[in-house]
Amino acid sequence: MDVDSCLKGRKSSRAFRPEPVPRALLQEILDLARWSPSYKNSQPWEVLVLSGQRKEALSREMLRLLEAGAPNTPDLAAPEGWPPAEEAKINQLYQSRQEATGIDLRDPKVVRKARKANFAFYGAPHVVYLFQDKSLSQWSLFDLGLFAQTLMLAAHAKGVGTVPQAFVTDYAQEIKEFLGIAASKRLVLGLSLGYPEPESSLNQLRTDRVPVEDFVRWLE
Ligand SMILES: Cc1cc2nc3c(=O)[nH]c(=O)nc-3n(C[C@H](O)[C@H](O)[C@H](O)COP(=O)(O)O)c2cc1C
Repeated sequence: MDVDSCLKGRKSSRAFRPEPVPRALLQEILDLARWSPSYKNSQPWEVLVLSGQRKEALSREMLRLLEAGAPNTPDLAAPEGWPPAEEAKINQLYQSRQEATGIDLRDPKVVRKARKANFAFYGAPHVVYLFQDKSLSQWSLFDLGLFAQTLMLAAHAKGVGTVPQAFVTDYAQEIKEFLGIAASKRLVLGLSLGYPEPESSLNQLRTDRVPVEDFVRWLE
């Protein structure tokens, strides 16, 4: 797959086929992701691939916490608001998502349902959790973002779908306890991963982007 197709063709998958991705292919994807650049080549990423019964058990635990009304314990606080320019783009996403899938994320009842679907990892056979030490600076957070994107592109190039999920870090404290990860680590992101279900309405959404002219200034 050429780079243009890979960059333009990757999109978030929100419905997966149940069969697992072979370990050798997961290994290949991670082997590509590790070539991400990072500040001083510090490579501040720690990865946990969760599958099978342990993944199912974590899913149940997150749903239990949600039902019990447990307070969220994320390591990265959820945004409290957005500047108008970004808010307009988010509203655009909500609009196109409703048109493509019938899901309206502006409705609180729907948001709760969406959280549950996230906690079920959208039916994916694997979830990849990304961590790093809490003492690392914001540059390392930036590096981990680059790593996540490299991983998603490598997966896409090999026919494997992903979706990055902030939702699945809501209960970071409990997740780390469940996974045996030290409290001194920052849980940054979870990515559900597997073979996409192409027919699902959830996978029909192709999000748009603003054109280059809207975000670039040229100076000479
Ligand atoms: C840091 C981050 C967190 C995200 N969290 C979620 C999430 O919790 N659940 C979800 O379904 N999608 C989540 N997404 C996916 C975005 O909604 C998606 O990337 C965006 O709408 C663009 O669509 P595309 O990935 O199909 O190009 C997240 C994306 C990023 C980068």
